[in-house]
Parts: sequence; structure tokens; C-alpha cells
Amino acid sequence: MERREEIRQAYGSVGAAHGFYDGMMSGSTRLGRWVQRHVWRMDPEDAMAYQTGALAAIPAGFSGRLLEVPVGTGVLSMPVFRTLPEAEIVCLDYSEKMMDAARRRAAALGVGNVTFCQGDVGQLPFPDESFDIVVSLNGFHAFPDKERAYRETWRVLRRGGRFCGCFYVEGGNAHTDRCIRRLYVPAGFFTPPFETEESLRTRLAAQYRQAEVGRVQGIAYFQCVK
Ligand SMILES: C[S@@+](CC[C@H](N)C(=O)[O-])C[C@H]1O[C@@H](n2cnc3c(N)ncnc32)[C@H](O)[C@@H]1O
Repeated sequence: MERREEIRQAYGSVGAAHGFYDGMMSGSTRLGRWVQRHVWRMDPEDAMAYQTGALAAIPAGFSGRLLEVPVGTGVLSMPVFRTLPEAEIVCLDYSEKMMDAARRRAAALGVGNVTFCQGDVGQLPFPDESFDIVVSLNGFHAFPDKERAYRETWRVLRRGGRFCGCFYVEGGNAHTDRCIRRLYVPAGFFTPPFETEESLRTRLAAQYRQAEVGRVQGIAYFQCVK
């Protein structure tokens, strides 16, 4: 089976039963906190630290155009989008099932200024320089063609715009690295090659005018200016 199809099926099953996934990302369930601790070696404060770092580039009251790719179930982003009623927000994901959960979350939270779009980060259906902010939370470790994803997220961002987010990097925690190789890659959730913190810092510094990278255990977070 082609890798894209494996990824779509893997996330399709997560999207259809997203309670576990959401609990893991937000630490809101006992099982989710167990995974944070025993796979990611993080406590809830660590998870909060990388998520806050990943979203810090979005100014309070932001009112421009923002692209989130991939939105997944929107578990981390929708609570932030609720605070940005003047922004024009577009959310894209490859998996309709993950995005269905995000649609329901947006409706439940009363977030009306978001449009959803099924698609591939490697071929974004948007003109050059059409967004002020591009957010990518926990996506690049899943994307099958990372070079295209870096090119496309850069292309759709306007000059002076911000690119921010987070994802898994190798070398931050040896136990997490083993879990990723043995469990997450075979299941289709993560796809190598993976960045290290250092390779990400080098890449973003070469591509963007400004780039800051931080890391909590096996997750790097970043904010860049084009
Ligand atoms: C780990 S989830 C992250 C979702 C969300 N941003 C979060 O932090 O919870 C990875 C997401 O990447 C999506 N994905 C994988 N390959 C993709 C691609 N080529 N284009 C767009 N989305 C993709 C999956 O469908 C899945 O929803």
C-alpha cells in the first residue's frame, strides 16, 4: 500500500474514535497522561510548555489570514481560535475523519470564522503569499514528503508573515525515539526521516529571515518570520 494511504487509514481510525487522541494531546484523560509520561516522558507542565511555545507567534487579537495545517481534530488549536473572532482561518488536513472531529469541535465552541479544506500539505490549494500566519502542530513527523511540506508552507506565507508550530524530533529522548521507531512508524502515524533539534534549527535559519527553536523532551517548537 502506498504510504499516503497507510497514513490516511491510520489517522482515519484515530479520527473516528478521537477521544483517546484528544486526551493524549491535551492531557485531559488518565490514559492520555499515561502516554505523555510513558512514551513522551512529559508531565502536563511539559506538554503545556511546548504547546504554548508552538502557538506563541499568534498575537492576541490577531485579525489577519491564518492557515493551520494539519488541523487534525483541532484539540489544541480550536480553543485558541475561539479567542480570535476577527481572524480569517483556514484549516486543512488529509484525513476527512480527523477534520470531521475538528468541525464538530469548532461548532461546539462557537468558532464560526474557520473554513475546512481536505488536501495535501505537499500541494496546498492556495495562491503564493496568501496567509499572514501558518501554524503546523504535530504535522511534520507525519507528513510523507517533508521537503514539499516545507516548500509549500513557505510559499503560501506572505513576506514578513510567521510560521510556527511543533513536532517530534529525534535525539531529544532515547526512550521516546525507541517508541516512535517500534510503534508509531509501523502503525503509519509517523514517517521518517525525522529532524533533530539541530537540523531543524539549521533548516529554518536557512529558509526564514528569523527563526527560534526550543525543545521539550522529543518535541521541538519553533517560530519563524519569512
Ligand atoms: C499527529 S496529527 C496532528 C493533528 C493536530 N495538528 C494536533 O496537533 O493534534 C497529524 C495529522 O497530519 C495529517 N496528515 C498526514 N499527512 C498529511 C498530508 N500529506 N497533508 C495534510 N495532512 C496530513 C493527518 O491526517 C493527521 O490529522
